[in-house]
Amino acid sequence: MPIDAANPKPPTYPRRVGMDQVPPHVSPDLIRSVGITFAPDFLANPQQFFIDLQTKQPPLFYDVGPMGNAWQATKHADALHILRHPEIFSNEGATPFPRDPNDYFYFIPQEIDPPEHRKYRNIVDPVFSPQGVLKLEGKIRALANELIDQFIDDGKVEFTEAFGRPLPVMVFLDIMGLPQSMRDTFVEWAMDLLHSNSREIMGEAMAKITAYLKSAIAEKKANPDDGVVSLIAHAEVDGRPLSDKEVFGFVCFLFIGGLDTVFATLNNVWLYLARNPQIVEEMKADPDNINAQVEELLRLWSVTFSGRVVIRGYRTARRAAQEG
Ligand code: HEM
Repeated sequence: MPIDAANPKPPTYPRRVGMDQVPPHVSPDLIRSVGITFAPDFLANPQQFFIDLQTKQPPLFYDVGPMGNAWQATKHADALHILRHPEIFSNEGATPFPRDPNDYFYFIPQEIDPPEHRKYRNIVDPVFSPQGVLKLEGKIRALANELIDQFIDDGKVEFTEAFGRPLPVMVFLDIMGLPQSMRDTFVEWAMDLLHSNSREIMGEAMAKITAYLKSAIAEKKANPDDGVVSLIAHAEVDGRPLSDKEVFGFVCFLFIGGLDTVFATLNNVWLYLARNPQIVEEMKADPDNINAQVEELLRLWSVTFSGRVVIRGYRTARRAAQEG
C-alpha cells in the first residue's frame, strides 16, 4: 500500500537501537559496531574509513549504533539494487529526523515512494533541474562576490563564518523567496538542529523553524511570489491542492536538506584545498576543466547517506499475523 501523503501517519515497523535489540534472524557473524559518523577513525579520515569498510568488512553487515541499527551495503551493485527497488526498500520513515507522532508529517519528496514521488518532484524540478539551477548562476556569482568583497583586502579569512555558511543560506533564501535579513537566524537554527548534540537544543530549534516556516507559508498563500515556498504553497497533486502538512513537510525538508549539506560540503572542500595547494594550482592551470573538478570534489567530500526501510518482509509478516 502506498502511503497517503495528505494524511501522514508515523511508521509502525520496529525501530531498533543497541545490541540488545538485534533481531534473531541476524547471523551473529554479520553483526558489527563500526561507528559511521562518530568513531575517531571515521572523524580523522572518513575516506580511509570507507575504504576499510570495503576491504575489512562483509559487503552487507548489520551495524549497531546509538542512532539506530541498520544493515550497511558497501558495494555499488547492492546500493543500486536497493535504491531501484522501492517496493522492498521504502523511503517511508527513512529520514533520521524525529517528529511528534501526534502531529506527524512526511519529509517531501524524500519520504514518498514511486510512483507518487514523481508527482511531488514535478513541482520543484523546474527550479532544481540543471537548467533551473543554471538560471540562478548570475545571482549566485553576485552573492559570492559580495561576500568575498568583505574580506578580499585582508588577504586571509575565517572561511566558515565569512563564506562557507553565509553563501548557501543566501542562495537558499533567494531560491525560497525568504528575506535575506533571516540569514544569521537560519544559520543559528540549522547549527542548533544538526550540530548541537543536545536533544533539548534540537527540540527548541525545530520549534523555532516550525513556527517561522508556518508563518512564511501563510504569508505566501496570501501573497504569492516566484519563490519556492510560494510555488509549493500553491501546488497541486492529482488535481487537488497540497494539504497544510504536505506543504510544511516539503518546505521543512528543503530547509533541512538544503542548508547544512552545503555548509558542511563547502567546509570539507576548502579545508582539503587549503591543505593541498597543488590542486588549486591544477585548477587554475586548467580552468576549462572546472566542472569535472567540482564534480569530483563533491563526490569526495560531500556529506550525508542514503537510507531505506525494508518493508516487504515486515509487511508480509504483519499481514500473515493479522490473517491468523
Ligand atoms: C552538497 C550538498 C548536498 C548533499 C551532499 C545532498 C545530499 C542528499 C542525499 C544523500 C539525498 C538522499 C538521496 C536518496 O536517498 O534518495 C538528498 C536528497 C534530496 N536533497 Fe540534497 N544534498 C545537497 C544539497 C541539497 C540542496 C541545496 C537542496 C535544495 C535546496 C537539496 C534538496 C534535496 C531534495 C529535494 C532531496 C530529495 C530528492 C527526492 O526524493 O527526489 N539538497 N540530498
